[in-house]
Amino acid sequence: MKTRLHLPVAAFAFAFLSTLASAQPSGQAPAPGDGPPPRQAGPGSKGGPGAKGGPGGMGTAKFTAPILAKDAAEKKILDVLADISANQRRGSMSVPDDDGRILRVLAESLGAKHIVELGTSVGYSATWFCLALEKTGGKLTTFEIDEGRAAQARKNFQRAGVEGRVTLVMGDAHQTVATVKDSIDLLFLDADKEGYVDYLNKLLPLVRPGGLIVAHNINQRQADPAYIKAITTNPTLETVYLNLESSGMSLTMKKR
Ligand SMILES: C[S@@+](CC[C@H](N)C(=O)[O-])C[C@H]1O[C@@H](n2cnc3c(N)ncnc32)[C@H](O)[C@@H]1O
Repeated sequence: MKTRLHLPVAAFAFAFLSTLASAQPSGQAPAPGDGPPPRQAGPGSKGGPGAKGGPGGMGTAKFTAPILAKDAAEKKILDVLADISANQRRGSMSVPDDDGRILRVLAESLGAKHIVELGTSVGYSATWFCLALEKTGGKLTTFEIDEGRAAQARKNFQRAGVEGRVTLVMGDAHQTVATVKDSIDLLFLDADKEGYVDYLNKLLPLVRPGGLIVAHNINQRQADPAYIKAITTNPTLETVYLNLESSGMSLTMKKR
């Protein structure tokens, strides 16, 4: 499969993301479910609520970046995303809003044509990916084991008008990922946390050089040490972390 790479944009995105990651959009409460554990801000902690930046310090300025629709097509998808976030979080374990935005930025700046997602739930992160895929002309293959959440995801994809971009594969993804044959630009791990190593082992050969593996819930409470070891001891991979103080994500690039 042909892949398009927008390297300068991708580099910019990486630099930009740490700022985005620390900024909570105005009016958005932290998400429940699999979202961030409570922030711990104690004396001497950096960036905790109430901390102050002294002269020369980095400070804790809160930048906000409202979600703005470029056109009617974006607005249609963003409206569905806002509804899922506001009304379908209970029991869905969807990513926090900021993380969804990060996923979109990564996918779109990478020019992703094929994204594979482990853990569809009700389709919140998948719909953020679809916002990017609408621009890149790409497709999403997403895996889910729970029929109730998958049914809700299908409805959400239809409401957003992105169902044509999505293949939702039902069943235990540890088995069903064997159906993936096409090259992967971005692999997103957000299903069973203790399964990340198995998913990585099975799908890394399909991730194209320069492609990304993004894992969610890379925080002290949820990250599987075996996964951290796998992405930090392989010299063919380059791993950085985002949002470690909240839900936590690892970004792993497969080197060229
Ligand atoms: C954290 S939620 C995914 C949230 C989703 N990525 C989002 O942010 O919108 C994890 C999902 O993975 C699914 N899951 C867990 N184990 C699985 C497995 N072995 N195969 C497929 N799906 C699985 C769960 O049913 C659940 O819906």
